[in-house]
Amino acid sequence: SEEEILADPVAKIASVGGTRHPSIPLPKDLFSPGHRNSAGIDLNDRVVLETTRKAVTTPLAAATLRASDGAGTVTVDDAITRADAAFPAWTRTPVEDRAACLDRLADLIEANRDELMAICVQEAFKSIPDAIGEVREAADFCRYYANEARNNLRSIELPGPTGERNTLHIEGRGVWATIAPWNFPLAIFVGQTVAALVTGNTVVAKPAPQTPLIAARAVALAHEAGVPRDVVILVPGGPEVGAALTSDPRIQGVAFTGSTATAKRIARTLLEDDARAIVPLIAETGGINAMIVDSTALSEQVVADVIASSFRSAGQRCSALRLLLIQEDVAEHMIAMLSGAMDTLTLGDPGDPATDVGPVIDQAAYDRLMAYRDRTRSQWVKTLNVPPGTEGLFVPPTLIRIDAIEDLNQEWFGPILHVATWPAGKLVETIRRINAKGYGLTMGLHSRIARAAEVAEAEAAVGNLYVNRSMIGAVVGSQPFGGERLSGTGPKAGGPHYLYRFCAERAVSIDT
Ligand code: SER
Repeated sequence: SEEEILADPVAKIASVGGTRHPSIPLPKDLFSPGHRNSAGIDLNDRVVLETTRKAVTTPLAAATLRASDGAGTVTVDDAITRADAAFPAWTRTPVEDRAACLDRLADLIEANRDELMAICVQEAFKSIPDAIGEVREAADFCRYYANEARNNLRSIELPGPTGERNTLHIEGRGVWATIAPWNFPLAIFVGQTVAALVTGNTVVAKPAPQTPLIAARAVALAHEAGVPRDVVILVPGGPEVGAALTSDPRIQGVAFTGSTATAKRIARTLLEDDARAIVPLIAETGGINAMIVDSTALSEQVVADVIASSFRSAGQRCSALRLLLIQEDVAEHMIAMLSGAMDTLTLGDPGDPATDVGPVIDQAAYDRLMAYRDRTRSQWVKTLNVPPGTEGLFVPPTLIRIDAIEDLNQEWFGPILHVATWPAGKLVETIRRINAKGYGLTMGLHSRIARAAEVAEAEAAVGNLYVNRSMIGAVVGSQPFGGERLSGTGPKAGGPHYLYRFCAERAVSIDT
């Protein structure tokens, strides 16, 4: 039950942590001597000097969860009761004050950057560049949604006949459950949660079971930034905790990022009880993301963008490239260049700044990916070796040739790229065959023909289309992120319409 899981989350987390990756060297130069985080934890004692994952995780877990105020003892039921009781006062708090909490949280995220990066490296095996991006994006979400809320979330007067006053109010809906993934354990966790908060909702936030510590620090920082303790409450745990949350009729909305299957399960749960309100679900899920390359593309740029899109973050981004489609006339040349470029990738411990590809998130992911890689051995175009002496859950980046677009029907969430060819003159058909998979998250095109970009813009049924660049790393406010169909419900994170889905609207007409 969730009570059992939550009764001792520290032990639970330690047990998860202890079996996942035996040795994570830490970015030793991130901390000056005596550096303490804002919860008073001496990072040199607790983080840097320990080198095994188990030893690192246990004291940090204990300290961090204590700092997050009660996360060690709260149950899902208690958390919802507290968040529900806190809702009326929070939703009446002026939007400027709620937005100011987000701005202060952004400041605190930046002030605690080194610690947050270190936790991302240890807990999620983020590379140093990815950890920098993670912290940056979390702060960006806070500032962006704060501005959007200040500018747009206000009551407006609407026209009517003489003597009638029409007002449209926009306000929070109640308690939201936010359910975050392990692959962006800080940025997405914070983005979902602060969007719900700034719109006047209270939040019970569930991080992925693999990454509770970074979430606990984020919640502690939100409290430090002035968000009242019962307005955002952390409930670490696994699917049981998620099920307890989403089946509770007091939950008035769910923001979820994770697999398509889990999103559908949540949707079914929300609709199960006939007496329950119809509540919104914001789901961001996966994709079978393709990049189309034609014969006019600049091969050096293609190779760099393919490497970044498919192998950075060990391929563990929902935006990552899974299927590379090269025009048949230039395919062999490009594949040879790509294979050569793969040789330059450095597999290693994520805390080493030289590392390009770190371990995958856990044993289950490793086993799944390695089994698939073994099954497809006869189709390998290229694979790398794990350097001798490198322990851990490393899946070697692998390029697999397939005959047809239709041969790939599953998202493989790791550093595995498939390649196939497409015939000249068949761009529209190629895009439609990709669309036909039913996913719609990211798509890439490399071409120097302006008309090709126009065709892709018109035909690609995806949330994010990238032309002549990589397909990862959507920037808050510039590339609102999220897919359609099997890839998600929208609205897009980091975009101007995201906050509205978290709100209730109320039209009031008064005849005088
Ligand atoms: N937002 C991330 C990216 O664009 C994926 O989740 O890569």
